[in-house]
Amino acid sequence: MRQIACIEDLRVLARRRVPRMFYEYVDGGSWSEQTYRENRSDFERIHLRQRVAIDVSSRTTASSMLGTPSAMPLAIAPTGLTGMVHPDGEILAAQAAEKFGIRYTLSTVSICSLEDVARHVSSPFWFQLYAMRDRDFVDRLIDRAAAVDCSALVVTLDLPLSSKRHKDARNGLSSPPRPTLGNVLNLVTKPAWCLGMMQTRRHSFGNLVGHVPNLDNLDSLSDWTDKQYDPSLNWSDVQRIRDRWRGKLIVKGVLDPNDAAEAVKCGADAVIVSNHGGRQLDGAISSISALSAVVQEVGHLTEVHLDGGIQSGQDVFKAIALGAKGTYIGRSMMYGLGALGARGVTLALEILQSELEKTMGLCGVTTVEGIGRENLILEDVRSMFGA
Ligand SMILES: Cc1cc2nc3c(=O)[nH]c(=O)nc-3n(C[C@H](O)[C@H](O)[C@H](O)COP(=O)(O)O)c2cc1C
Repeated sequence: MRQIACIEDLRVLARRRVPRMFYEYVDGGSWSEQTYRENRSDFERIHLRQRVAIDVSSRTTASSMLGTPSAMPLAIAPTGLTGMVHPDGEILAAQAAEKFGIRYTLSTVSICSLEDVARHVSSPFWFQLYAMRDRDFVDRLIDRAAAVDCSALVVTLDLPLSSKRHKDARNGLSSPPRPTLGNVLNLVTKPAWCLGMMQTRRHSFGNLVGHVPNLDNLDSLSDWTDKQYDPSLNWSDVQRIRDRWRGKLIVKGVLDPNDAAEAVKCGADAVIVSNHGGRQLDGAISSISALSAVVQEVGHLTEVHLDGGIQSGQDVFKAIALGAKGTYIGRSMMYGLGALGARGVTLALEILQSELEKTMGLCGVTTVEGIGRENLILEDVRSMFGA
């Protein structure tokens, strides 16, 4: 196997090893994928200010998010169906994150359940909540997250209805895959994945099965989830969740400063500037281009985090320089997981940390707190993002 040098190498390997349906579920955005592409390309438009002859012999990426120490200012974002990208994927990713010293966020629509993940790690992870129509189910989910000691609840607001993802529609995405001729032919080329899946019992939505009445087969499950996204979702629902959840509350999926201000009014301890990785409103602006305005509006009141397009330590550096207190990866983790399982997730984290640490050194900075707007070519930032 060729040496893995960067996240792109993990992506290429994951494409070879993960069945097409699940690989394209990860490496895809909504509609034309404009926002998905711009999440990355807007990072590339920001230039760094090189500094020399500064003693940078002692550097650390150590940081904190929501008061919790973190090996670097990065956490793992919630991703649905992670256990379909690799058998037992959520457990493996949570364990890799714990070992590395960063936070893992489990999705509502994970394959491994809250209780199952909790049994396999010893420090608290975060739980992401979709505020679904069935409010009793939502309340029970919140209580289950509290019962397994999740330390933060991440409420996702940018999915009041499902978007249109052409690749998933063409592939007939389902979990587990339906035994169509196309799927069977593709699965034959992924023997390690198939073998791993035969050795685990975790094939369906772990947080739902057994917790919603009459949800026992593939069709009833997909039907239920599709109908559960709630277009009536509004700030009073967020307030209701805030009132029920005693731990830290993170509001995920804001791009607009006014929405960030509303989240703070509801008592959010952090907001995540995010467009769901370009998977919801295609044509929305990139996360990095939305960041400065949100920081200006609420940065003095709450932590501002960012996800979307982070595939190198340099991206983390740029987000921190523009005022983010922390960042998240979705696909960079999934590529590592799909390529090499737990080892691939660890490798992805090592790559990002080493890139961040080297970038700090070459910019003349030795601590994460020391990273600021002065490390960027600000003319670039102003002309691109107006802030
Ligand atoms: C395959 C996949 C599944 C996702 N599932 C969820 C989810 O269940 N809940 C959620 O809040 N966000 C979900 N997201 C969005 C991520 O949490 C995050 O916002 C996004 O991946 C960040 O962009 P990046 O992939 O470029 O790092 C998903 C993203 C991907 C790629």
